[in-house]
Amino acid sequence: MTSFRPAPAWLADAVFYQIYPQSFADSNGDGIGDFDGITAHLDHLAWLGVNTVWLNPCFVSPFGDAGYDVADYLDVAPRYGSSDDLARLVDEAGRHGIRVLLDLVAGHTSDQHPWFRAAMDDPADDRYIWAPEGSPDGFVPSPGTRPGAYLPNFFAFQPALNFGYGRTHPAEPWRGPVDSEGPRANRAELRRVMDHWLGLGLSGFRVDMAASLVKDDPGKKETAAIWTELRHWLDGTHPDAVLLSEWGEPEVSVPAGFHADFFLQFGGPTDGLALRSLWSNGEGTVNEAWDPLDCFFDAEGRGSPRPFVEAWRGAASTLGEDGFIALPTSNHDFSRLNCGPRTAGQLPAAFAFQLTWPTLPAIYYGDEIGMRHLPGLPGKEGSVLGPRYNRAGSRTPMQWDAGPNAGFSTAPADRLYLPLDPSPDRPTVAAQLADDTSLLHLVRRLIALRAGTPELGPGGSVEVVHAGYPFVYVRGGRYLVVVNPRREQASCRYDGAEGGRPLEATGIRIDAGTISARGFGYGIFELA
Ligand code: NOJ
Ligand code: CA
Repeated sequence: MTSFRPAPAWLADAVFYQIYPQSFADSNGDGIGDFDGITAHLDHLAWLGVNTVWLNPCFVSPFGDAGYDVADYLDVAPRYGSSDDLARLVDEAGRHGIRVLLDLVAGHTSDQHPWFRAAMDDPADDRYIWAPEGSPDGFVPSPGTRPGAYLPNFFAFQPALNFGYGRTHPAEPWRGPVDSEGPRANRAELRRVMDHWLGLGLSGFRVDMAASLVKDDPGKKETAAIWTELRHWLDGTHPDAVLLSEWGEPEVSVPAGFHADFFLQFGGPTDGLALRSLWSNGEGTVNEAWDPLDCFFDAEGRGSPRPFVEAWRGAASTLGEDGFIALPTSNHDFSRLNCGPRTAGQLPAAFAFQLTWPTLPAIYYGDEIGMRHLPGLPGKEGSVLGPRYNRAGSRTPMQWDAGPNAGFSTAPADRLYLPLDPSPDRPTVAAQLADDTSLLHLVRRLIALRAGTPELGPGGSVEVVHAGYPFVYVRGGRYLVVVNPRREQASCRYDGAEGGRPLEATGIRIDAGTISARGFGYGIFELA
């Protein structure tokens, strides 16, 4: 493996919190969340114990894809406030012991970006990938005076930046080499964008579609080379910053240069098995396109933690000490924890698992109070990707309190970015703060336990005792974790658990070599 500077020390202790800025807190009553809204809630995030926030894109954008269509990488979208407001957020967050990461959309821009506006009228421009008339499938006809068509990266309005092709061919001139002028200019731009934000005190980036840069790139070799080059640059100029990839294949992305990669609903040879065994799509059933497996966190108990454990083991052994795997509760692209085959009753066990497994936990805003995934919402800013894939359901406004609009905004309800969960018993931060037995308090205690117990972090060993219902493992030779996400009671044999001191436990009995877990029970014990 290429040798990089070790990841900044703070990363091993990171507990990520993902904020979808549109939906977190609206400070000026226009119905859309903003920077000042986030700043106003930093006390709460610090109380919860999360220490690294990542924000979905907050840059100038026509918002065809909720900001993943960037029209200016160096300026923020006015709907979130000004650059000064972002600077204040970052500064205040720092005072609260919280780092902030932005989202780097590296593979494409908006078709409204000045680079693309220029390219569509300039046949010599090579910042994007253009093919002549009659070009191959997937290209989109030029909207400008330039003839031919361009290659999109996701939606048609997101033209792929040109980082070249892994395999060139003389008969297909659009397959430019990775070291030609356009790709070189784009690589330099990525550095410029990173340098700009890191210079303002940001702590790094979550990198969108990080695997997508070089086209037709067998083994992702050339794409990896780009990230390796960027990591070396980062090691030299911003050694305290981190790059966290949306790649889904840590065994490839971390050796390429990322400090960490997410286990996702897609990716690589494991094809997202790790998460597919845990989480499903948002429309009430398991996503057939992605998820032929039963979900481990299924109340009926049809799944197994084994696909997850195996995918994790494979990736973790490749990574060694060189980087981390991040495990999200959910995100803005797939279902919340509380949806589909799962029920709110399972969430404590899910967090007990997530916050004691040797990955870096990433909590998606609202999952810590068990916000529900709302099926069937109208599409909003590119949220609908197909009849069975609507992302709006996991992007609804944060539920703060019992006030109007759940404390999210003072705008009229029909002006909110997305509708709120309409149910009268929707969970809120305020109600859960007032109740020591709530999920929110449990998540806070689990984060604190992890922070105070290095064995529970990514560096501690893990020995899997029972990969079934219940899922049982020992961290650092000293901490026994029992998780039963199914409704039914479950038990297994284990001789080493007698006399363990419960640090956090509900519904677990350890007796005469048997661990019994009530339905949805979980526990963390310090072994004698
Ligand atoms: C992945 C992002 O998470 C998703 O929300 C977006 O639509 C695509 N990349 C395109 O940028
Ligand atoms: Ca606002």
